Amino acid sequence: MHPRNAIKKQGAASQEDMASISTVPQHVAIIMDGNGRWAKQRGLSRVEGHRAGTENIRRVIDAFAGRGVKYLTLYAFSTENWSRPRSEVNGLFRLLGQVIQRETRALHERGVHIRHLGTTDGLSSHLVRQVKEAVELTRHNTNITLSLAFNYGGRAEILGVVRRLIEEKAPPESIDEKLFASYLFTAGLPDPDLIIRTGGELRLSNFLLWQAAYSEYYATPTYWPDFDEEEIEDAIRAYSQRQRRFGGLVPTAKCKGGVAA
Ligand code: FPP
Repeated sequence: MHPRNAIKKQGAASQEDMASISTVPQHVAIIMDGNGRWAKQRGLSRVEGHRAGTENIRRVIDAFAGRGVKYLTLYAFSTENWSRPRSEVNGLFRLLGQVIQRETRALHERGVHIRHLGTTDGLSSHLVRQVKEAVELTRHNTNITLSLAFNYGGRAEILGVVRRLIEEKAPPESIDEKLFASYLFTAGLPDPDLIIRTGGELRLSNFLLWQAAYSEYYATPTYWPDFDEEEIEDAIRAYSQRQRRFGGLVPTAKCKGGVAA
């Protein structure tokens, strides 16, 4: 454990923390980047980096749930990640299977509702079964919804909706944002309020392209395995200081005809 976390109880924000954080995002989505660089710094293999990243998942779920976040979405494997070396892809899916196997029961006991965002194309039948069972077991839980985005790509998701609307011969005038969103993998989830990217890069990497239209962004250079309680607090604090306008104007703004975003 990092020394600065030693005196903090995992998952719980102190009263002082809570007092300084006025607005907690309802839905946080995370691009967990930097496992490879974390491993390289330590002379370890990339798969070891992903293993360390996996170890971090439980503390992150507990910390966000403890702060009142109701939806947490983690980007674990994109459709583009298939282009990585076979050994890394296999290692990632092995880790994913191990996490589901090892953690589902404990997550269920903590009231976590697990969802999968993405397709099952190319996944082993064993992993598909494990995922289905985890989703089924936890479907009525209400503490926090944990969506694991793997085998997920934002453009492919949008194309999938278009194909289905065409297949179902949806009348053009019936297609609005609400209908469209109801065909996305995220159907029923609110759009992410806050998207966090670890590892220092500043891009979306095909993550939640439709859903991110008005999300706030937060990037940290910290590699994913080191993304800890203090980092989480910083991200939530930064979010609470943002002014969200959803394309309108600031209610108290005196500017005339000002453009807002
Ligand atoms: C990016 O790091 C991370 C990934 C492609 C995978 C993230 C996966 C996990 C944390 C483990 C499995 C997840 C779950 C939810 C069980 P990178 O390899 O691109 O790092 P780099 O940019 O430093 O090379």
